[in-house]
Amino acid sequence: MKELHGRVALVTGASRGIGAAIAEALAGEGCRVALVARSEEALNTLADRLSNRYGVETLICPADLRDEAQAAAAVESTVARWGRIDILINNAGAGIYGDMAELVADDLRATFDVNFFAPMAAMRAAVPHMRRQGDGVIVNIGSIVGKFSQPLGGGYSASKFALHGASGAARAELKSDNIAVVLVCPGLTNTDFATHTHIGVPGLEDMQGERHAPLRGVPPARVARRVIKAIRRREREVYITLFDRLVVLGAQMLPGFFEWGLLLATSIRRRRFSQSLGGRGRKTADD
Ligand SMILES: NC(=O)c1ccc[n+]([C@@H]2O[C@H](COP(=O)([O-])OP(=O)(O)OC[C@H]3O[C@@H](n4cnc5c(N)ncnc54)[C@H](OP(=O)(O)O)[C@@H]3O)[C@@H](O)[C@H]2O)c1
Repeated sequence: MKELHGRVALVTGASRGIGAAIAEALAGEGCRVALVARSEEALNTLADRLSNRYGVETLICPADLRDEAQAAAAVESTVARWGRIDILINNAGAGIYGDMAELVADDLRATFDVNFFAPMAAMRAAVPHMRRQGDGVIVNIGSIVGKFSQPLGGGYSASKFALHGASGAARAELKSDNIAVVLVCPGLTNTDFATHTHIGVPGLEDMQGERHAPLRGVPPARVARRVIKAIRRREREVYITLFDRLVVLGAQMLPGFFEWGLLLATSIRRRRFSQSLGGRGRKTADD
């Protein structure tokens, strides 16, 4: 999709972070942009800024994507407004922190609802329109931890594995319709993601935010620039940094050695989390 000017794009999770940066990058290319998230005020603020700065039309679609009907409705609102949808960015995502053996099924389902079922529902809604148009690009924002298991973030990892699997299948199935499916696998990115991570630790369910991560990662604008390039080139799979690519390669080529590194990372992560609680929560073997 070489020319982006005048295209219609929908971005989920556009109220902040990577989604807001992608929406801005698309507006900068002259796309009309539909913005989806729960925070209506943040969407309004962004929509005004994009219209004023780039002179593009915007639409806000406040939605809770844990309900897949709302994901589909956002796509239909976009088509109702502009008559088409050229680019679907499935970006909205939510983290969950906790041991796999302790995660409550409802919490795990809620993570999958946002990270996996909402993208599937949006894709189901968008594809008939893209087929009619004879063109379209679907971008799924996965993660490097959709390529290897992230201890204490296993529920999140599993949801991204599912998204990655579905992306590969959909790419092959939709190729003959001239619909590209691009999987983007960011590594650590400087957003408020950790602050919004659901805590799935028994006794601490009222908390939110992981409060452990001192690393900040790349700016979301860098991810957004790479997404634009990937849309133009209709790329298959995209990493943001060489480091991310090497980590994934290491996990695949040297699984035993990599697992040793994960064990170390797990104990550091667990210790940081429990220190951040200031005495609240149970002690762990690593304390
Ligand atoms: N940050 C990283 O290090 C990193 C690394 C790899 C991959 N990713 C992926 O990148 C994507 C964006 O993450 P981010 O870092 O930008 O996180 P973020 O700052 O927490 O943004 C998440 C976005 O998703 C939306 N969202 C969450 N739950 C939602 C729900 N139930 N309904 C509707 N919208 C919902 C949020 O909007 P509302 O709260 O307003 O609804 C927000 O706009 C995610 O898919 C994430 O998994 C992030």
